[in-house]
Amino acid sequence: MPQRVILGVSGGIAAYKAVEVCRRLVDAGLHVVPVLTPSATRFVTPLTFSAVASEPAQTELWNAPVPIPHTRLGQRADLIVIAPATADILARLACGLADDLLSATALATRAPVLVCPAMHTEMWEHPAVQENLATLRRRGVEVVDPDVGALAAGDVGAGRLADPQVIVERVLSLLERHRARPQSSGPSRAGSGASGAPHRDTGRDLRGRRVVVTAGGTREPIDPVRFLSNRSSGKQGHALARTAARRGAAVTLVTAAPFAPADEGIHVLAVETAEEMARATLPAAEQAEVIVMAAAVADYRPKRAAPSKLTRSERVPELELEPTPDILRALVERRRPGQVIVGFAAETGDALGKGMEKFARKGVDLLVVNDVMVAGAGFDHDTNQVALISAAGIEQLPLQTKDAVADAVWDRVVELLAAGDPVPPSAPTDEDPVHGAHPGAVRLGTEHARNAYLGQSIEPEDHR
Ligand code: C5P
Repeated sequence: MPQRVILGVSGGIAAYKAVEVCRRLVDAGLHVVPVLTPSATRFVTPLTFSAVASEPAQTELWNAPVPIPHTRLGQRADLIVIAPATADILARLACGLADDLLSATALATRAPVLVCPAMHTEMWEHPAVQENLATLRRRGVEVVDPDVGALAAGDVGAGRLADPQVIVERVLSLLERHRARPQSSGPSRAGSGASGAPHRDTGRDLRGRRVVVTAGGTREPIDPVRFLSNRSSGKQGHALARTAARRGAAVTLVTAAPFAPADEGIHVLAVETAEEMARATLPAAEQAEVIVMAAAVADYRPKRAAPSKLTRSERVPELELEPTPDILRALVERRRPGQVIVGFAAETGDALGKGMEKFARKGVDLLVVNDVMVAGAGFDHDTNQVALISAAGIEQLPLQTKDAVADAVWDRVVELLAAGDPVPPSAPTDEDPVHGAHPGAVRLGTEHARNAYLGQSIEPEDHR
């Protein structure tokens, strides 16, 4: 039987794009039920949705053919996606209001809820909207962040509805995950607002765990106005912090990213340089059971930063570089028994080969490798495609959101924590392939994978 998706449409100019989302979801084999708010019907008619959906669009809490349509819709849904989600519907979900069919349905369900906000930049950036979104995220609601681009009335800025294809991919990946991990049949948390259901059945499997996550690209000053840095946005690290908090961990986020996470309950230490990151991370790590070094720490920094701005009239400056502290190495050297350390490797070309070499060399329990040249992966994207390398083997994950990647990383971390003393990474096992560890993933024993993927010996790179 096809999975049932409620496509909620609220009243914004982007409502017309929801028709495309609807069509693509139906094309993907899903049973799609459109539910429009009264204001959505001012932008697009229910008839348009009825023509492309699996059953007629619904708009009425009252005067519907069935007496209590929202409970039927909510109970039978496998997922609710709201695209576009206006500031108004986000506020109503955050408050737990139920005075129209869509908000009532989102409350009367245990299915995962995905919201795709779209609105003018001023509204998107307003603290009221961001706080409502943080509330929803904390309750397990998933979010496809809006893009920057053309808005209504000729404006340009942040708040444009994400591309329909991105929304559809996120729906499919959420459904896949929920199919792999059926929902809890426990009592609904409906009183707490939208969905009331855990977005994943990982529950709070990191409850009581102290974790440290680093994020962003460090900035190494040249003079008071210039710096050396890299293209890291910090989005993957922030997604790791957010999902860990959602799964119950006490999270310290050491971030060099130029934005703060909206989520409450995350202890944020904002840093700029590799030196500052080391000074913040190493003491925090002493108390932590898990450390995830997702930051793109600069490998080199100017030996001396000029005390005042270098001017054009001076001769072309020569920058003498020196290595930054290797935080990961220091963490591995100080590792307490049972402490799980995760490293990241952003590579260009033969990412897996370089990743396997790095895994063997770095002494981490898990290495998250991504080829940043792959379309839609790596720096500044909201999606990422990674391979997870551990002593148990290699797991290739599909292109998915950074939140989904983060959840996959935490799944592996939970396994490593459960194993007590993680298998020493210096002793990779030569095991048979294991499939299906994560939706869409292929897991292979390290040796098997080495042969299957590389077919060659690994040349060590030039590392300091
Ligand atoms: O060798 P490479 O720089 O690719 O290693 C990447 C990993 O090492 C990442 O987890 C990054 O956070 C960490 N790193 C570090 N200190 C540095 C450079 C990288 O902890 N100075």
